[in-house]
Amino acid sequence: MLSGKNVVMGVTGGIAVYKAVDVVSRLRKLNANVNIIMTKSATEFVTPLTFQSISQNPVTVNIFKEPTHWEIEHISLAKKADIFLVVPATANIIGKVANGIADDMLSTTIMATKAKVIFAPAMNTNMYNNLIFKENSNKLKKYGYEFIKPGSGRLACGDFGEGKMAEPCDIVDYLVNSLTNSQLKGKKIIVTAGPTIEPLDPVRYMTNHSSGKMGYAIANEAQRRGAEVILVSGPVNLEPPIGTKLIKVNTTQEMLSSIEKHFAECHVLIKAAAPLDYRPVTVSEHKIKKSKDEIEFKFTRNPDIAAHFGKLKRNQIIVGFAAETENLIENAKKKIDKKNLDFIVANNVLTENSGFKSDSNIVTIIDKDGTVKDYPLMKKEKVAKAIIDKISAILNC
Ligand code: PMT
Repeated sequence: MLSGKNVVMGVTGGIAVYKAVDVVSRLRKLNANVNIIMTKSATEFVTPLTFQSISQNPVTVNIFKEPTHWEIEHISLAKKADIFLVVPATANIIGKVANGIADDMLSTTIMATKAKVIFAPAMNTNMYNNLIFKENSNKLKKYGYEFIKPGSGRLACGDFGEGKMAEPCDIVDYLVNSLTNSQLKGKKIIVTAGPTIEPLDPVRYMTNHSSGKMGYAIANEAQRRGAEVILVSGPVNLEPPIGTKLIKVNTTQEMLSSIEKHFAECHVLIKAAAPLDYRPVTVSEHKIKKSKDEIEFKFTRNPDIAAHFGKLKRNQIIVGFAAETENLIENAKKKIDKKNLDFIVANNVLTENSGFKSDSNIVTIIDKDGTVKDYPLMKKEKVAKAIIDKISAILNC
């Protein structure tokens, strides 16, 4: 699968180095050519010989060593890389790269490469949450460096929390996607997902049953095909797909203003979220006390986000969803015009195994020219594929 691809892999000093050996082994099984650069600290955990044996290539550690051939080694590896991985990536290497420090073979080669650089961080939770580390990684993300989010769990030091390096299979999946799937490369896609919530008082809020599964599946599929994905999500219990930019929101108005910041430069907006149409006119400053048997609230209309951007759109594609309990097609068709959508994905949210919360959905896709296509019961991942296929076709990708 990766024949002819050159992966340059930096290995820095942390206990997760042993997992990096597995990453190399998996890459070799996919026929990638892997060249490894180890920092001095990494060699304290696992010897270069181990990586040399698994990769079947010489391992570079010392920048001042006699080059193995006439080219200057850090420049030749920097040029050779189709993709650059750093596994595990310590706070130290991330801090160095973020601040332009090139004082060893690895940091120098990263600085010299034009290939995409992907870090798989691994460190203690307190280090991972340290604001200096956060600032360094945010700076690198801004410049296009990518990060494979570490997981949470028991760390080698005995602490519990974030900082556990992503599993080798996930790192390799991420890399394979980056190298092989570029159908939507250069396209920026905003996906909205989940419910919104509208507070009534400091302890209570209104919301709906959206779990975010549909929107997250779409974000994942778009990201897998190489798009730059911004996922604007209401409160849900899901991990964002690796590589997407997650913007968390609560209210419908917050969802609108988050999209507003990115809409002008996006190519596609997919409105899979279920934003609340109304919000309370006033939000009580204090907890509303039990007193009368009945209580009344006055609500005011929230902005219709899809319709708002439907008015602003130039060349963008806007895809809406219609969550209906009756007259599915008729109601969905009305929404295409009202919101100036390119197509709408209609789902009956009363049907079993469909709509809110379930892992599957039964949808009908309706084009703005009125063409209707029914789909059978499918996993939300498959519905997401159908939606992204349709978008790719419209974009001629
Ligand atoms: O999140 P899951 O549990 O996986 O469930 C998936 C889903 C049922 C939420 C999803 O498939 C879906 O149907 N999302 C749209 C829900 C909805 O708000 O439908 P609607 O018919 O009320 O709105 C029509 C369109 O306008 C939608 O694209 C919606 O995002 C958008 N809208 C709605 C209200 C509002 N104030 N602003 C909007 O932009």
